[in-house]
Amino acid sequence: MKAVIVYASVHHGNTKKIAEAMASVISADVIDVTRKIKPDLSGYDVIGFASGVYFHTFHERIKKCIEENLFSKGQKVFLVATCGLGYRDYTKGIKDILAKKHVSFIGNFQCRGWDTYGIFGKIGGIAKKHPNDRDLKEAQQFVLKTVCEKTIDDVALLG
Ligand SMILES: Cc1cc2nc3c(=O)[nH]c(=O)nc-3n(C[C@H](O)[C@H](O)[C@H](O)COP(=O)(O)O)c2cc1C
Repeated sequence: MKAVIVYASVHHGNTKKIAEAMASVISADVIDVTRKIKPDLSGYDVIGFASGVYFHTFHERIKKCIEENLFSKGQKVFLVATCGLGYRDYTKGIKDILAKKHVSFIGNFQCRGWDTYGIFGKIGGIAKKHPNDRDLKEAQQFVLKTVCEKTIDDVALLG
């Protein structure tokens, strides 16, 4: 199983931390889509798209990448978002794009990430210290279960 996580993380690197933690337990490649604008995603069985939330949605480069990519039959996709305010599901709009493209969607993960945008900056930000160790562990548990049907204990046992 070949996996890749394509991410955009332009505020504090919150999403990058989550993407790298996930990638480390499933041996996935990671691609920063703000540096590599048109990544070659052919040849991957599973693709994760991860983004900070900017004005209620994913980074435009992630959206463009999904819109322009030709997904092959059998490729599976999961979504990851980090956000300052965790009260709603920010992956909804992206799920709609995937559905229109008939892409096989296997799940989404969302957690809070340190947010100093606008007025929040004046108070040192919100969701300070996120993603924390617990967020990273939950992210790893999600990806192991969703992509490999394994638990973190299975991986520990395997050493
Ligand atoms: C320009 C901008 C707009 C943002 N808009 C939202 C938003 O609409 N909802 C929200 O919950 N968080 C919002 N945030 C907070 C980020 O989603 C949060 O800090 C996220 O973890 C950033 O991820 P990153 O460090 O990977 O870029 C915004 C941050 C920035 C810089």
